[in-house]
This record gives sequence, C-alpha cells and structure tokens, in this order.
Amino acid sequence: MPNLLRSFCGLCVCVTTLTLTGCSKEVPPPAKSVSLGSSAPIEATDPTDTPAKTDDSAAPVKPADSNATVSAEVLLGSPELTAGIPGDGPLTAEQIQAWLEKPENHAPLEIVLPMGLMAGSKQVQGIADNLMTRAKIELGRQLYYDTRLSADNTISCASCHDPDEGFAKHTQFGVGIKGQTGGRNAPVCYNRIVSGAQFWDGRAPTLEAQAVGPIANPIEMGNTHEKAVETVANIAGYEMQFRVIFGDEGVTIDNIGRAIATFERAIVTGPAPFDYYEAVRPFLVMKPDDLASLKDDDAELYAKYEAAKAAAEAHPMSASAIRGRDLFFAERGGCTACHVGANLADEKFHNIGVGMVAEKPDLGRFEISKDEKDKGAFKTPTIRNVALSAPYMHDGSQKTLEEVVEHYNKGGVPNSHLSTKIKKLDLKPEEKTDLVEFMKACTGEFPKIERGRLPE
Ligand code: HEC
Ligand code: HEC
Repeated sequence: MPNLLRSFCGLCVCVTTLTLTGCSKEVPPPAKSVSLGSSAPIEATDPTDTPAKTDDSAAPVKPADSNATVSAEVLLGSPELTAGIPGDGPLTAEQIQAWLEKPENHAPLEIVLPMGLMAGSKQVQGIADNLMTRAKIELGRQLYYDTRLSADNTISCASCHDPDEGFAKHTQFGVGIKGQTGGRNAPVCYNRIVSGAQFWDGRAPTLEAQAVGPIANPIEMGNTHEKAVETVANIAGYEMQFRVIFGDEGVTIDNIGRAIATFERAIVTGPAPFDYYEAVRPFLVMKPDDLASLKDDDAELYAKYEAAKAAAEAHPMSASAIRGRDLFFAERGGCTACHVGANLADEKFHNIGVGMVAEKPDLGRFEISKDEKDKGAFKTPTIRNVALSAPYMHDGSQKTLEEVVEHYNKGGVPNSHLSTKIKKLDLKPEEKTDLVEFMKACTGEFPKIERGRLPE
C-alpha cells in the first residue's frame, strides 16, 4: 500500500477496493473480502456482528482501457490532484506547455477512495467512459472556477458551489447572473463519483450531462454552449490543453463537460469521526471475553483493533453523536431507509413532504418520469458534511439541522404522495440533539483546491 494512503487514512484496516476490469461499463459485484471500516458501517450493522478477517490486498479502481499506461494508484482527495499547475499568478502558456508535456499527467489514474467513502467503490460511476487523468482534473478545475464561462463574466460553478460554503451556498436558492434566482437550493457537488443521476430530480443521467447545464441556463450562467465554446477556444491556454487532452476534437461543449465532471469526481471527502467510529465499532460490540481472547487467538486482528481504536480516539464522536448514530441506523429513527450507503444517500427519489403545501408545489421527479408515484419526490441528499451546507432541502426552506430533525419528528408534511417510510417519530428532546450531533460527526476532510491559476 502506498504511503500516500497510509498518511491520509491514518490506519490501514480500512482498505478494500474493487477493480473495474476489462472494458465493461458495468460495475462489478462487490469484492468478497470485506474489511473493517468499509462495508461494515454502511449496511445497517447487526450488533452481534463480529469483526471479519481483513484482507489488505487493496485493489484500486482501474480505468477501463487496460492497454493504456496506468499510473500508480492514487488516493482521491490527495491535495496534489487539485493543487493546480505549479507556480503563482495567472497560468502562462509556458507553464501549461511544460505541464502538458509530462506523460504522467495523461496516464489514466488508478483511483482509491478515502476511508469511509471507500465502501462505495462498487458505486463508482463514469470513469470507464471518461478516464481520469491529472491533466483532465486540472483542466476541469480551471473551468470550474472560471467566470468567463458565463454570459457576463460574473458567475462560475464555484459561485453557487462554493468550497467555503460546503460546496453549496448559504442562500435559499442559487444566485446566477444579474442576481437571478430559481426555485431550488444549490446541492453539494462533492462525492459525485459515487453518484449517478444528478439534480434534485435526477434529470441529468451523468455528471458530464449535468456539468454543461448551468452554462446555458438563463438564470445561472446565462450563456449559450456555442458562445462558451468560442470563448474557451479563444483562450490559448485552454485551447492547448483541450487539444492535447482530447485530440483533434479540441474544445467542444461535451469535452468541457468531461473535464468539469472529472474535476468534480476528484472532490471527495475524507474520513469523518463517524467513519473512525465505524471502523472500531465491530470490536466494541464484541463480548469483552471474546475481545480479550482475540489477543491470543488472532494477534493480527487484535493489532488492527488497537489501530482502529487509536484512530477513533484521535477523531472522537461524542456520546451524544454515538447515540444519534444508533438512532439514525435503527428502525425507530428510520433514517437509513433512505440515507444509506457509503455516501449516506440511496440515490433514489422520495416524497418527504417538503414544499407540498404550496399552491403549485414543485413536483420534482414527477416532471421527469411522469410517474404518479414520483409527485413531490426528490433525490436523497448525502449526509456527509451536511453541517456545512445549510440551508436544507430542495427548496432551501429549512435553515438548520434542528429544523430538519423536527420535520422528520412530526412525520414530514402529510400529502397524498408522502413516502410510507416517513412516520411520526416522537423523539425526546435529547434524542433530537443526538441526531444533530451525529450528523455533525459526519464532517470529514476536504481536499485542498487551488482556486486561482486560470489561463490568461
Ligand atoms: C446560479 C447558481 C448555480 C451555478 C452557477 C451552478 N450551479 Fe450547480 N446547481 C445549482 C442548483 C440550484 C442546483 C439544483 C438544481 C436542480 O436540481 O434542479 C444545482 C445542481 C448541481 C449538481 C447536482 C448535484 C446533485 O446532488 O444532484 C451538480 C453536480 C452541480 N450543480 C454542479 C455545477 C457545475 C459543475 C457548475 C458549473 C458549470 C454549476 N453547478 C453551476 C446552482 C448552480
Ligand atoms: C423516505 C426517505 C427518507 C428518510 C426515511 C429520511 N430522509 Fe432525509 N431526506 C430524504 C430526501 C428525499 C431529502 C430531500 C427532500 C427534499 O428536498 O424535498 C432529505 C433531506 C434530508 C436532509 C437535508 C440535506 C440537504 O442537503 O438539504 C437532512 C439533513 C436529512 N434528510 C436527514 C435525515 C434524518 C436525520 C432522517 C431520520 C430521522 C432522515 N433524513 C430520514 C429522504 C429521507
């Protein structure tokens, strides 16, 4: 295992990844070897579970084109991937050229997801069709921060998905060119690598398709795809990068989408106190006698327990957060009926009653599927780092996590299409606090991202 991974993840018991083999676009079934801190936390855990034997043979997620030179495996979220082309100030043609000349910047990356999110390795989407390379991540980074993609040079993706605001925006709705707003809250755009259909209503089938939407949305970046392509093609530093990365096609709107989507896939969040706790939990729920005898029976596994314990102590969950975690995963809280999987989101659509009392409610998924049962259904958002991205819900109508918990406590807002999974919870005040504390403990590390350094 490379040192890179060790230093990021802090402990090694967490490693299991899957291999995307051949050219198949299908995601392979999960690897048999399940190790601590990966699958265990995410599927609701049975308290009687005993820790499984671990298999440290980490097989990274490989790009589909097996003939291409593959670079050494790289941990997504490592700062080096998003640090920009080395140097200061605006990117010069010479710096871009030197960067493009390095073959390692074009080698498809064999990626490893950070601890926690790693349990979603089998969910990884899109990299078979759009190989990840350092050069493509970097091009996408520049485009993400470039206001020149908008009609009046004022708005970039980062305007509404701001790294300082949890990669979302603390306003109720996204604010586009000329101060215009739509009717939906800007969702987060990290951990998209484990996510399929995008937008609250899932209308974009891929991240690539999503990425080009805002450019031509009149109330967001207000541009046309033709003009955006023309602008980008007229910036020599961009033109050069597109030509080397995408060959003769050069600058096209689809290639702009591919580059931005690749950058977004590199924005993954690292382990949270929750993940460190999940890694040690299978041991904590063992009978004390069994744990004691483990020391003699399986010294290797016992060493892993000690490492996981030390890591969890270095990133502690409060007692309240632990109670909140148990409530979140238990049938009584019922949150994992939908907020499940590595990203704590099932990628499905549900009506939980938000905004349904309006005279003309936003019907969400129904507008896309025209399926009656989808009326008022929206895509389950991730709980990872959710404390950083208030306000909440598709309409930004709930300002705090306390307000969200109250929404669930009273059984959502009754309406003819309310999910049957939403029921009155009758939580005690301290249980509400516990749920909020748990969600706060889902906050992990964000990759360091260069925000300037755009082509002149
Ligand atoms: C004016 C604000 C604004 C700008 C600019 C903007 N977005 Fe968004 N973004 C939103 C809103 C609002 C939504 C939700 C819209 C919906 O679901 O109908 C959204 C949705 C998304 C999603 C879907 C996330 C999910 O969970 O489904 C991604 C990814 C995303 N934007 C990335 C981008 C990228 C990349 C750019 C730049 C090309 C961009 N956005 C520009 C406001 C904005
Ligand atoms: C039936 C599925 C379902 C269940 C059960 C559920 N949620 Fe949700 N959750 C959703 C959906 C869907 C949304 C977005 C709804 C919308 O915007 O209209 C959401 C939104 C949220 C948000 C706002 C996130 C954001 O970025 O805006 C939080 C926080 C949240 N849920 C926490 C919880 C907690 C805590 C529980 C358990 C008490 C829970 N959820 C139970 C499906 C569910």
